[in-house]
Amino acid sequence: MDNKKMVDYSENQIRRLRPRCRFFNVVLILAITMLATAGCSPQKAATPYKWNIPEGFPAPNVPDDNPMTREKVALGERLFNDVRLSANAKQSCASCHLKAFAFAEPKTTSVGTTGEVLNRNAMALVNVAYNGSFTWAHDGLGKVENQILIPLFNEAPVEMGVTGNEKAILAKLDDYGPEFESVFGNDDINFDHIVKALAAFVRSLTSFNSDFDRYAYFNEDEALTPSAIRGMDLFFSEKLECFHCHGGFNFTQSSKHAMQTLDLVSFHNTGLYNIDGKGSYANGDQGLADITFNPKHRGKFRAPTLRNIMLTAPYMHDGSVATMSEVIDIYAAGGRGDGVNNPLKSPFVQGFDITDEEKQDLLNFLESLTDYEFVGL
Ligand code: HEC
Ligand code: HEC
Repeated sequence: MDNKKMVDYSENQIRRLRPRCRFFNVVLILAITMLATAGCSPQKAATPYKWNIPEGFPAPNVPDDNPMTREKVALGERLFNDVRLSANAKQSCASCHLKAFAFAEPKTTSVGTTGEVLNRNAMALVNVAYNGSFTWAHDGLGKVENQILIPLFNEAPVEMGVTGNEKAILAKLDDYGPEFESVFGNDDINFDHIVKALAAFVRSLTSFNSDFDRYAYFNEDEALTPSAIRGMDLFFSEKLECFHCHGGFNFTQSSKHAMQTLDLVSFHNTGLYNIDGKGSYANGDQGLADITFNPKHRGKFRAPTLRNIMLTAPYMHDGSVATMSEVIDIYAAGGRGDGVNNPLKSPFVQGFDITDEEKQDLLNFLESLTDYEFVGL
């Protein structure tokens, strides 16, 4: 084997081992482009955005270089639904994030615009503005703007397929000129502006109008049934431990906002797999370990929000759990199949006894986390 071949081979090896490093290349290239264009987009006077967040809840963090305005959110919503953002004009963000399913989709794992199958289930988008981390298992994305680069530019697998097709895509979007002018002060349609508008729209997806919210935060004692209240007590009990990982007003530890003193970014292995007896997960997806390369992080994923959770089946990072009833059975068993003995499993997933009535109570509580107004039902 000559030297050239050896180099090619090892490069391919690295690619296979670190598929996600390519995201960082993309992030880097875009970051440079953004820096280069920064400063030439003076913001015009715009209507301040009025958050749909009840009094008493903290303000989310918004990056200084991407302030919220009504016009920007409206532009972001249009772009979110525009299939012309994908290379073959077949897929928009909304193809995988469907409003009626709380911006998740009723599919095991997502399929990109060219038919490539992803190994992850599309996440619900709700109160993402408060997220301390993004995606099922990543500790380094920092803000919504960075996350959005992945579906747009990802090549392994292709999601919307923008990479290599940037110019052609931007050329198709020329009818957006006046909107870009009013939002960004110039009609330059570029990916920096597109990503900023999309991020503003994603941040605007706030939801605080579930029966649980009415009961817990707005003193409407009648908003929850006695069964849902019993389910809530179980959820917050030391027996079930759900609240340890799905805590706070967003039912996730991974939050970042003005009232939070601790910046918590935690990931857990909940014992869904143990394919080699040493803690490995299935489908080539080792969760946080694929980012950190720390073998102890295998199977560690973010505890996602449980807001609107009854609308977002199937469940888990790979959509491998079809119903909420099964989710509860898995936690009650302390994991799934061999996963029960996963050596990297969180000590909070020990299993518990639960009666049929208690299970129904817990289901009713989880149902009370649905904000029907938010999903337009
Ligand atoms: C092919 C389907 C697909 C498309 C298209 C898609 N997404 Fe996603 N989205 C996903 C999947 C799958 C995840 C989880 C990714 C992971 O964990 O690696 C996700 C995660 C996210 C998250 C993270 C949410 C959180 O709480 O951390 C945001 C935000 C998001 N997508 C926004 C968008 C936007 C904006 C677009 C359009 C530019 C888009 N998505 C296009 C499937 C898709
Ligand atoms: C040790 C922390 C931890 C505990 C305790 C815990 N969870 Fe989770 N939960 C997670 C993590 C991490 C995930 C994502 C796992 C994955 O996809 O591999 C998750 C996923 C879920 C999901 C699927 C979310 C989705 O969007 O698909 C539901 C529903 C859920 N948990 C409910 C519960 C309930 C109910 C309890 C209590 C019986 C509970 N959890 C206890 C960490 C935890």
